[in-house]
Amino acid sequence: MGRRALRKIDPELDLSFHLRTVDQLPSPLCGAEIFGRGAPLEIEVGSGKGLFLQNAARRNSEHNFLGVEVSRKYARFAAARLAKCKLANAMAVHGDALALFREHVPDQSLVAVHVYFPDPWWKKRHHKRRVLNEAFLADVVRTLRPQGRLHFWTDVKEYFDATLERIAQHTPLAGPLDVPEQLAEHDLDYLTHFERRTRLKGEAVYRAEFVKT
Ligand SMILES: C[S@@+](CC[C@H](N)C(=O)[O-])C[C@H]1O[C@@H](n2cnc3c(N)ncnc32)[C@H](O)[C@@H]1O
Repeated sequence: MGRRALRKIDPELDLSFHLRTVDQLPSPLCGAEIFGRGAPLEIEVGSGKGLFLQNAARRNSEHNFLGVEVSRKYARFAAARLAKCKLANAMAVHGDALALFREHVPDQSLVAVHVYFPDPWWKKRHHKRRVLNEAFLADVVRTLRPQGRLHFWTDVKEYFDATLERIAQHTPLAGPLDVPEQLAEHDLDYLTHFERRTRLKGEAVYRAEFVKT
């Protein structure tokens, strides 16, 4: 399904803190270095317009958040949202999340990995392009700290079932833990824009959470 045109970004907005590219990040990635303070680090893969990043960073000011987004215009949009709110604990990273994990993220350095509504790649011959593939899951297991969590939500039942099976077969992660649906109290009271869109259409959202034990 297509996505609506993005609102224009205020050209006066300074994105220099909130927008990076994968190549600009240190390797190994060090949250204390890029945020200027050490704090538990969470990474969102495919952060889209950045609603999750904005709300999570506001609610949990004790943690640092990185949202990786392969589309430059969406990464810029998310960065603008964070810059407008002057959030010092979140930034948008333009680039491939798989490369970020593979080349930058050290072992046992994350408290959470979030993957919400990843591109479904509907055709069977394209399933290998899905982000939640075996190599990425191995990186999630490697980079999570003990008790760290993987959050995965989607509206595609087949992707959900296949991923849960893959996680059970190929990783030591415990779960899936059930994640109940929350009542939305206002128009942006959703985890992400895709969750909002799916629920407003009255369609199901499949949610799971896993723990590295
Ligand atoms: C269907 S959208 C969901 C966006 C957001 N998570 C939400 O729920 O509203 C999937 C997003 O993942 C991004 N994406 C796909 N592959 C990626 C990759 N390898 N690394 C980073 N982002 C990726 C896409 O550009 C797109 O913005």
